[in-house]
Amino acid sequence: MTTEKSLGEQNYNQFADRYAEMAETKPHNADYNFPAVISLLDNMAGAAVLDAGCGPGFFTQWLLEQGAQVTAFDVTPRMVEITQEKVGNRATVLRHDLHEPLDFAADESFDWVICPLVLDYIEDWSPVLAEFARVLKRKGILVFSIGHPFGDYLWLKYRRNHEVSYFDREEMATPWKGFGEPWPVIRFFRRPLNQILNPVIEAGLVLDYILEPLPTQSYKDKDPEGYEKLHQEPGFICIRAVKP
Ligand SMILES: C[S@@+](CC[C@H](N)C(=O)[O-])C[C@H]1O[C@@H](n2cnc3c(N)ncnc32)[C@H](O)[C@@H]1O
Repeated sequence: MTTEKSLGEQNYNQFADRYAEMAETKPHNADYNFPAVISLLDNMAGAAVLDAGCGPGFFTQWLLEQGAQVTAFDVTPRMVEITQEKVGNRATVLRHDLHEPLDFAADESFDWVICPLVLDYIEDWSPVLAEFARVLKRKGILVFSIGHPFGDYLWLKYRRNHEVSYFDREEMATPWKGFGEPWPVIRFFRRPLNQILNPVIEAGLVLDYILEPLPTQSYKDKDPEGYEKLHQEPGFICIRAVKP
């Protein structure tokens, strides 16, 4: 067991309720990440789906509406409570840390594993992806999204006045100002593209689709300036990979 709290828990403990309330309609989540991730999912009816790092359950709820059988987990206790309150006994909701093996799940038990905006909080992906590969059935599919490596690099380059290498993996910390006050300080890792794709390949999964999403029209209605910016600089990247 890890002794120190995971980065994810340290981050989201600060503002789980505010995240749950605001991310439901916040353009970066509702009009950018959410539609991008669900565009990579199909045939959900009856599918066994693992929602890894479910947060307040936006995807869990959508998956249930599509007729999926969902197991959802998160490391932040309040996120687990919020998701559990939303879905009751329609899904299995657990507190679990992705740094630990998925010991609640049998080999080859899921048709899909989704992990939207979670892996940014984990430094070493190899054990995590090995577990995703283990619990996926043959032909099962992993879909995840994270901060775009070039977007993260550009953001840091402007901020650090050019003294930054795209090729480094490094922990970063920044206050998030979009979820009200007090601003939570969020710590996460950025990494170059090869450190995103190669761990997936090394886990034995086959890359199937890389999506560099653009925001939807509804994003433009809420935040025209952010919409234009995301047409010039990427914010997130989504990866779909299949277990052969
Ligand atoms: C940006 S939120 C995304 C929530 C949800 N996937 C979504 O897209 O709406 C990140 C979530 O990842 C969870 N998380 C971060 N590190 C984690 C870990 N090591 N194990 C499980 N969950 C983690 C956080 O607690 C938080 O709820």
